[in-house]
Amino acid sequence: MSNVPDADELNVRIIQGDALDALDTVVDGSVQLVVTSPPYNIGKAYERDSKMSLDEYFEWLNPIIEKICSKVSSTGSICWQTGNFVRGGEIVPLDAFFYHVFVKAGFKLRNRIIWRFNFGLHANKRFSGRYETLLWFTKGDSYTFNLDPVRVPQIYPGKRHSAAKDEGRAGKPSGNPKGKNPADFWTFSASDAFHDDPVWEIPNVKAAHPEKTIHPCQFPHELVERCILALSAPGDLVMDPFLGAGTTAIAAVKSDRRVVGIDKSEAYVALTIDRLAKLQVGDLNLRPSAKAIRVPRAGERVSKIPDEWVKGAV
Ligand SMILES: C[S@@+](CC[C@H](N)C(=O)[O-])C[C@H]1O[C@@H](n2cnc3c(N)ncnc32)[C@H](O)[C@@H]1O
Repeated sequence: MSNVPDADELNVRIIQGDALDALDTVVDGSVQLVVTSPPYNIGKAYERDSKMSLDEYFEWLNPIIEKICSKVSSTGSICWQTGNFVRGGEIVPLDAFFYHVFVKAGFKLRNRIIWRFNFGLHANKRFSGRYETLLWFTKGDSYTFNLDPVRVPQIYPGKRHSAAKDEGRAGKPSGNPKGKNPADFWTFSASDAFHDDPVWEIPNVKAAHPEKTIHPCQFPHELVERCILALSAPGDLVMDPFLGAGTTAIAAVKSDRRVVGIDKSEAYVALTIDRLAKLQVGDLNLRPSAKAIRVPRAGERVSKIPDEWVKGAV
């Protein structure tokens, strides 16, 4: 573990080390928001030598979660993002297990957010997985929730209150002029930048996504940004104990929050530091937030049914 100060006075503190030890250097109750995604134990590069049974997985993670919980302030939140653990073709929804772990620690679930994306591994013996979940817990009943910075455009801005149901408000616009609540189903999809730059941009960070690094399962920046804007205020301390490519640190710094990030991998810590340096000089490639969902036009190559299929070769 790198040599770090005891107090959380620094705006950005990146620690290379095991979260179980490194968390001891974070002051109890100092963190307003945790945004993180633990290893899912699915054989990614950073867990290849340590595939565990489900019981072993929780035995390893539970003490880390206990420490994470103690770092959160009384008004603070945890955004815990996970997918499925796969066991011989059978899937285990990890969030169902994590729900009980955090409730036992005294936390309250405010949303179970579905993060839906279009691309991923193709399954042959079950439907292909195209979503993961983000559990938003609060430590108490008094917590930060700022809707305005994360509102999204109204689908029907011209909708008005009906005369029959809404006396007094009849005929007035029924929506909020600042936009609507983004709801608990989040989709960040391919953007219209495709027309200018013919690269297939995809919502989860794979292949040619502008934010892609060497890390195999990065958060898209926009996912973290939404949590940070809604669940913390400028100057608050945000923490990611499984920092990976540093996306939480980047979103925190961009939004004037302080951040402490931990990752056991030297390579990912170096990657994070490099990305933060690029952010500082305006040289970090981030997909612009709030881009509209793009649907390919009829004439585009990717919309055409391949000739081989038309000829009945399949
Ligand atoms: C799912 S990835 C997180 C990806 C991250 N959300 C991002 O945007 O890049 C999990 C990360 O946890 C790190 N990790 C695994 N075990 C750890 C441990 N005991 N302590 C700290 N980090 C660990 C891995 O190196 C990996 O980068």
